[in-house]
Amino acid sequence: MKTVVTLPELRAARLELAAPVGLAPTMGYLHAGHLSLVRQARRECASVVVSIFVNPTQFGPHEDLGSYPRDLARDLDLLRREDADLVWTPTLEIVYPPDFQTWVTVGQVAQPLEGSMRPGHFRGVATVVAKLFNAVQPHRAYFGQKDAQQAAVIRQMVKDLNFNLELVVCPTQREPDGLALSSRNVYLNPEERRAATALWRALSAAQKAYQQGQSQAERLREAMRAVLQAEPLANVEYVSCAEPDTMQEIEGRLEGRQALLSMAVKIGKTRLIDNLLIGG
Ligand code: PAJ
Repeated sequence: MKTVVTLPELRAARLELAAPVGLAPTMGYLHAGHLSLVRQARRECASVVVSIFVNPTQFGPHEDLGSYPRDLARDLDLLRREDADLVWTPTLEIVYPPDFQTWVTVGQVAQPLEGSMRPGHFRGVATVVAKLFNAVQPHRAYFGQKDAQQAAVIRQMVKDLNFNLELVVCPTQREPDGLALSSRNVYLNPEERRAATALWRALSAAQKAYQQGQSQAERLREAMRAVLQAEPLANVEYVSCAEPDTMQEIEGRLEGRQALLSMAVKIGKTRLIDNLLIGG
């Protein structure tokens, strides 16, 4: 496994890689969710590239950029064990030199939900991912369903800007009690960790209601809210039942369409998101 920092180093190493090349972009502090992307890329591609960069432009001014967990030595160890070929760990100055002034802004699909709670977040994500795609030139790029709106935003960007690659969205990896793996779970104290299961319990309750014949989007949102409101440590930011490609809320019945159930919930100071696809 080769580790590179600068763009010239990356470009030279990239030329040595056999096609097809798969890229898994990450912000590090890797867990089994990240590693599942690397593993799927390993199965499907001749070469696997992983980027590790905590991207400051996707954090809001009051978010956790300063405290975001980091452990590069451990990350490199884990990636070596997954047999990654190339790891790119650019510095802030490499990704955003002092005169940086070009941004990628995705429209409607980036506006609701995470987009409205975290202004500027998807502008930061789309910009850095566009830069990663241009630098690495992968044939396939691996993202997690855990961040469903992020995947939808990147899908739109790939289409609109003619990136010549295939987007692969991998299933959400969970703890045995349903909590979706996230780098931010380390912030939870034991009591909050127990309360954090409310997200998966809420998604499961709505899925069960759907399976038992409830297809009114608003009833499914209510089923999720009911579970979350019963959890004293949970503070709901949003609950959604939306069209998975556009992220627009569904009104009325699902009518056999696929729907994305999703939510953002604060447990203490920690903001958690989760989602589940139903129907279709
Ligand atoms: P990060 O939060 O490090 O996540 C990197 C990738 O891992 C994302 O595609 C995310 O959806 C996926 N992932 C995280 N938790 C997962 C889980 N439990 N199961 C499956 N996949 C999971 O997402 C980002 O970084 C950044 O926004 C990035 C795309 C790197 C741009 O800066």
